[in-house]
This record gives sequence, C-alpha cells and structure tokens, in this order.
Amino acid sequence: MSARPAALVTGGSRGIGLATALRLAAGGRPVALVARGEAGLSRAERAMGDRGAECLAIRADVSSAPEVDRAFAAAIERFGTIDLVVHAAGILSTGRFDRIPVEDYESSIRVNYLGAVHVARAALPRLAASGNGCLVQVASVIAFKSFPGFAAYAPTKWAVRALHETLDAELRQVPVRLAIVYPPITDTAMIRDIPADRRPAVYDRFGSVTADEVAAAIVRGIESRSRRIFVRRTDWLYFHLTRLAPGITGRVLDRMLAGRGGISR
Ligand SMILES: NC(=O)c1ccc[n+]([C@@H]2O[C@H](COP(=O)([O-])OP(=O)(O)OC[C@H]3O[C@@H](n4cnc5c(N)ncnc54)[C@H](OP(=O)(O)O)[C@@H]3O)[C@@H](O)[C@H]2O)c1
Repeated sequence: MSARPAALVTGGSRGIGLATALRLAAGGRPVALVARGEAGLSRAERAMGDRGAECLAIRADVSSAPEVDRAFAAAIERFGTIDLVVHAAGILSTGRFDRIPVEDYESSIRVNYLGAVHVARAALPRLAASGNGCLVQVASVIAFKSFPGFAAYAPTKWAVRALHETLDAELRQVPVRLAIVYPPITDTAMIRDIPADRRPAVYDRFGSVTADEVAAAIVRGIESRSRRIFVRRTDWLYFHLTRLAPGITGRVLDRMLAGRGGISR
C-alpha cells in the first residue's frame, strides 16, 4: 500500500504513455504501467526505477475486458487507491484503404475503441471510489479531420472522441473528471515504424512534437482540470476551426497536401 493515491497508465511501456508516467512519477505519484510486451515493460520499469519512482508493471491487453479488470485489481492491491487513469495504449495501421488488411481494421477497433471502453468501464467505479478521480483518454487530432492513409485508424479515434463526449454528457453526476487529449503528430515508435510504402503524406507535410511535450500538456491539463487537452495553441485553433468551419478548413488542408499522392512512396 502506498501513502499517496496512484496513477494507472495504459500504453505505459513507451512513447506518450511512458513519458506521461515519468512526469507523474516526478511529481511523487506511484504509477502502474500497463502494456502487452514484457521486454518493453521491463525497460520502462527500469527507467522509472532509475528516477526513484514507485512503479508496478502489469502485462495486459486493453482489447480484453477481463485482462483490463485484472490489471486494475492488481494496481489497487499494490497501491490501495487509484485516482488517475491515463489511457494511452493504441495501435496504428496505415496505407491505402484497399491495401490495409481486414485484420488491421478489426484489431484497430478492438484495441483503440474497445480498449477505451474497457478501460473506462474498469476505471470509473474505482475512480469514483477514490473520491477525486480523473480519467484521461488519449485520442488524436485525426479525430478533427481525416487524411488519406488513415482508413483503419481515424475512425477509431473519432469513436474515442464520441465515447468521451457521450460519457461527459452522461456522467455529470458521477464524481469523476473526464478529459480527452488530442495529440498532434508525435515522434514515437508508432510513427517511426511505419513502412515507407504505407506512410501517409501528412507525416512529411506537418511538423511533429515529442512524447514529452505531449506528456507535459497532459500533466498541465490534469492539474488545471481541463476537459479538453491540447498540446499546442495551434491544435486548439485547429479543433475550433474544424468545428466552426469544417468545409473551408478541410479544403485548405487538402490543398496543402495536393500533389503529395496521399501516401508517400
Ligand atoms: N504518435 C503519434 O503521432 C500520435 C498522435 C496522436 C495520438 N496518438 C495516440 O497516442 C497514444 C500513444 O501512442 P504512441 O505514439 O506513444 O505509441 P507507441 O510508442 O507505439 O506506444 C504504444 C503503447 O501502447 C501499448 N499497447 C499497444 N497495444 C496495446 C494493447 N492492445 N494493450 C495494451 N497496451 C498496448 C504499447 O505496448 P505493447 O505493444 O507492448 O502492448 C505501447 O506501450 C495512442 O493511443 C496513439 O493512438 C499518437
């Protein structure tokens, strides 16, 4: 048992999840890291330990409701109370619509969308029990407007945004704060590992941020009790432009990408 309430971070073995876990731990919080791969979890656990963080690594697949539930139970058994959950686990499959294997459409929905559902279902009662809980779902700016190459991924992030908006409207009386993060292109393995012939042109047209910049925005957003968390001022502007003037904004962006073939070769 720990004296301080702990955080649980899914996708905590690398990228945005690990960067967020490191920042939370630097603020003195114990953190449970959830991911599938043993090697990645061990590396992340060492990185946390090197900074003196109290950490528990839990192997679980967020696309499995029972595994998610067991992960939460293990974290609570170790730390006592969880009052913050950051759900960052996610996968990305890109490419032209008809060249993305059907299995990738299925796994994207299972991990990115159903994962968000399973995490919310496991988290909400436990966060409510803490008396001051907060659930942060990581979406993407792709949930404002999609681009060529994202037929498998973008719908899952639109679904996460819709899930968040529904819960936000439905759970006003529940004592849990809900927040959603809309990271822009972030320099992580998720982007670096895309094969050249399946790399959407947006990655070469628009700049990226670091995982730590996203993590800093997440921690700032939690501290300031923001319901929507943006990394840069331009992401906030982009969000509002796509809501207020989706037609013009879409045309301008499509023109910026014109001639780039949609998917890099
Ligand atoms: N990078 C970007 O440009 C970008 C932009 C906007 C939003 N995002 C979102 O930000 C989140 C983090 O992305 P990232 O760039 O940090 O990716 P990443 O570096 O590839 O890290 C993904 C993390 O999620 C874990 N994970 C993947 N599938 C899982 C599953 N089924 N169950 C449990 N854990 C799983 C991975 O570990 P294992 O593989 O070992 O399970 C890893 O820890 C994702 O939701 C992504 O969609 C990323």
